[in-house]
Amino acid sequence: MISAPRGTRDILPGESWKWSYIVQTASKTMKDFGFSEIHLPIFEHTELFSRGVGETTDIVEKEMYTFEDRGGRSITLRPEATAGVMRAAIENNLCAQGASAKLWNWGPMFRHERPQKGRYRQFYQIDAESLGISNAAADVEVIALSIEIFRRLGLKNLEVVINSVGCEKCRPVYRQKLIEYFEKHKSDLCETCLTRLDRNPLRILDCKQESCGRVADGAPDIFDSLCDECREHFAEVRAGLERLGFTYTLNKRLVRGLDYYTKTAYEILSGDLGAQNAVAGGGRYDNLASAIGGNKIPGVGFACGLDRIMLVMEEQGCDFGQTPKTDAYVVALDDKSRGAAQVLTYELRKNKISAACDIAGRSFKAQMKSAGSCEFVCIIGSEELAAGTVSIKHDGSQISMPMNEAASYILKSKN
Ligand code: HAM
Repeated sequence: MISAPRGTRDILPGESWKWSYIVQTASKTMKDFGFSEIHLPIFEHTELFSRGVGETTDIVEKEMYTFEDRGGRSITLRPEATAGVMRAAIENNLCAQGASAKLWNWGPMFRHERPQKGRYRQFYQIDAESLGISNAAADVEVIALSIEIFRRLGLKNLEVVINSVGCEKCRPVYRQKLIEYFEKHKSDLCETCLTRLDRNPLRILDCKQESCGRVADGAPDIFDSLCDECREHFAEVRAGLERLGFTYTLNKRLVRGLDYYTKTAYEILSGDLGAQNAVAGGGRYDNLASAIGGNKIPGVGFACGLDRIMLVMEEQGCDFGQTPKTDAYVVALDDKSRGAAQVLTYELRKNKISAACDIAGRSFKAQMKSAGSCEFVCIIGSEELAAGTVSIKHDGSQISMPMNEAASYILKSKN
């Protein structure tokens, strides 16, 4: 028996319709906010992520599914969508001459992480990116969009956490201050943080190890290092969120695991998820375009984890809309009527009525059992066959009618 690889899972019919409900809700919300859907390759040149996401990130250092293709090129299964969206925007001139583009997509992402509740190696993201606008209003719109998706899905007990991680002007100053500070507390840092010290000291700020956390508590405050532009931008983002009536928490140690962020960084956390508690994460990335070889295109976006949304919705007993159901079942009373039952089923389907009939040669009793949850039960036996009619059971009564009137009758009487 060959099983699915560790960290992957099958989304079976009992769950897949709920999955579709989430995507459809997100899709409608994206449309209401003026975002257009795009579809991107699932694999890209490895360089896109090493340059875009950052050489010193966990994702690039140890989590990517990278392989050489048959042409000898280094290819990577996308670990996230933002770098691919930016590549597509540059390649297709979507932001030429200062134009802006609001784009969304959803699909599988791949990271070789240690699997646990809410953390998979193939997981699904719903992703939105607003490209070409450097104003704080774009950050506010993106954050509002993510909150609105969760509001429509009925998620409760969420916390929006925001921070500013500075820009290429002020972050190097802050980075230096951090290195000097952490150097003095080296003995209290974990192995991983010691390796981060020179390469990516900001990541030490969000280390989950207790002793690192204690050291990080006393670390220099990023707000003392922000340049005027970043400070002003962040104040505008906060004012914008407050204008829309959102509450949020300020966490100066929120740095995110991807290197492309500038200025705003944010996450939406759920109180119902355990250790992997982020249902969405995002922020601004004004230097990503130039990092991957394009002209400067500012951007801000977020991605939410479909798998985690699903877990929270199940946990909180949220509504997934209508359960999928079949409207009509066509029962054949005897073997001779089976052909006609199949013809009527097809006729109903052509009229956009969801319909089923038995194709396994099962008994009348078994067919009636399958028909149990359908609003309409159409019965065809030798009498009906001879007369060209069908008997339809609906709402506790049964009527007979010409076979070719069944579809219009069902369409008229459907709940
Ligand atoms: P991220 O924080 O790495 O950001 O991922 C975003 C969300 O994807 C997380 O909050 C989580 O819900 C989900 N997620 C991440 N890893 C896993 C996993 N292994 N298993 C299940 N769910 C997971 C990004 O990917 C950025 N590209 C977001 C962004 C868009 N920033 C700007 N634009």
